[in-house]
Amino acid sequence: MSDSHQSMPPSPPSQLPALDTEADPHDYSDVDSGFGASIPRTTGASENSYSVTTGSGVYPYVYENGRRYQVYREGVYMLPNDVEEIERLDRFHDVFLALLDGKLCIAPVGQGGHRMRHVLDIGTGTGTWAIEMAEEFPDAKVIGNDLSKIQPPWAPKNCEFEIDDVESDWTYPENHFDFIHLRSLSGCFKDWDMSSTVRWDLRAVHQSDEPPLSHTAPGGYIEFQDYDAILNSALGAIPDGAISRYWGLVSEAALSTGRTFQVASTIEERLKAAGFVDVTVRKEMWPMGLWPKDERMKEIGRIGRIGLRSAFHAFATALLTRVLGWDKAEVEKLCQEAIQEVNEGSGQLYATA
Ligand SMILES: C[S@@+](CC[C@H](N)C(=O)[O-])C[C@H]1O[C@@H](n2cnc3c(N)ncnc32)[C@H](O)[C@@H]1O
Repeated sequence: MSDSHQSMPPSPPSQLPALDTEADPHDYSDVDSGFGASIPRTTGASENSYSVTTGSGVYPYVYENGRRYQVYREGVYMLPNDVEEIERLDRFHDVFLALLDGKLCIAPVGQGGHRMRHVLDIGTGTGTWAIEMAEEFPDAKVIGNDLSKIQPPWAPKNCEFEIDDVESDWTYPENHFDFIHLRSLSGCFKDWDMSSTVRWDLRAVHQSDEPPLSHTAPGGYIEFQDYDAILNSALGAIPDGAISRYWGLVSEAALSTGRTFQVASTIEERLKAAGFVDVTVRKEMWPMGLWPKDERMKEIGRIGRIGLRSAFHAFATALLTRVLGWDKAEVEKLCQEAIQEVNEGSGQLYATA
């Protein structure tokens, strides 16, 4: 996890439609777009920001292999956005909190004279982090953006959500954000030097001699919380088996789309190269399962385990079917075998976040 110095635009608060109108999350009808809505452009935020109207109350989604995916920038992001995924993201939110001893971030935001007025949560997902941040900093305006409209309609007044593609040009003001947060976004962007804040910062460098930290307010922070999609074993090498095969295949498929999962370990260097200062890295062990003897670690494993089964399917389904041409039954079998290995705990597996 890294944080560093340095970068919101207006957007009309979109009062959002009901979270999920699907009747059957395991309806296997392929690519049923279920459109009942149009996605008109808004005027406030970037050209690429949208608010969603749902004339019929049905939100546009694509269904494939029993999972639901976003329609906006369809196919760009390979993980689902259905109820099962929303629950997984919230369980993983709990894991990140546990890894950070209950804190939402490690950057010393709001401390020592640092003012929290504008906060941006890139790829906000369920918006839970943004909502909790808005509650913790009631004087700050917190924006969460995402390709999918899966955030609840009951956010605090100082928290807004935008449907946006952060790989498109930004129109957020420069020198604006006191805190930018990115979490669990490995596999989302094609080029981490050219994406989100870092992309903009580098572009600013290329286009002019201005300092590169364009969207972060002076003295502001940016924090990445992520994991490399590499599993480690407390016993040494990862045993050959389903887990090892699973990660190999999912990583290979992601890489071939140009959106690698191996991002976290590269962030420190990228931030420094982009001109950020006071870069701090904190590494935490995220145990898979209940194998740790240490009580804190075991508890983190316990919290994570709730979302883990779902995570195996979420990461593999679209990548292995769309990219590697597998069918759903093959994916299911591999996921089951991998989950079984985790449950057995013999490999003492962990990820590094
Ligand atoms: C694994 S989820 C993480 C969500 C949230 N940050 C969290 O930690 O719970 C990744 C999120 O990034 C969003 N995303 C992926 N590509 C994006 C893009 N180009 N622009 C905006 N959001 C994007 C996805 O829709 C998804 O909700």
